[in-house]
Amino acid sequence: MRILYTTLLFLHVLGVVIWVGGMFVLHFAVRPSVARLQEASMRLTLLSSILGRFMSWAAMAVIVVLASGLAMIFSSGGFRNAHLSVHLMLGVGLAMMALYLHIRFGPFRRMRAAVVTSDWPVAAANLETVRKLVALNLGLGVLTIAIATIGRALL
Ligand code: HEM
Repeated sequence: MRILYTTLLFLHVLGVVIWVGGMFVLHFAVRPSVARLQEASMRLTLLSSILGRFMSWAAMAVIVVLASGLAMIFSSGGFRNAHLSVHLMLGVGLAMMALYLHIRFGPFRRMRAAVVTSDWPVAAANLETVRKLVALNLGLGVLTIAIATIGRALL
């Protein structure tokens, strides 16, 4: 059974790397570079395309992180046996997932629709909301990784 648990852990960490690492690259590398483009139409169309592709990969990562996390809990005695750090990870992780769904079906959807109709001010306003919420989710992601690792020693 050790191979089952470690395979689930591998999938879990891989999902976390893709999701949280992707948000890091978006926030600290893609966004500031694209922001240097003068033309608003080009900037917003490019970011809409980049975000759309990332959202699809992130959806897969979210499903894998949740499914593998719950599978690890159930394969090692259920919630009663789970360490406090795992309970906290689940709590903050679910908040991150809710925020992901909100971004995807709220401001990101509005931004994409505005790009299609060339309504650049509306697209830019929604992009700004996406930027702030992705930054928040990135912070929660780093916090969750700290809970999952350092939390085991401290809690
Ligand atoms: C939301 C549902 C989640 C559940 C049910 C869950 C559950 C778990 C479980 C059971 C473990 C194994 C703990 C152990 O073997 O001691 C684990 C490990 C881990 N989780 Fe989660 N997790 C969730 C979300 C997240 C999220 C959102 C992140 C990061 C953003 C994350 C980061 C990690 C990391 C880095 C480890 C490896 C810890 C280590 O082995 O040192 N988890 N998770």
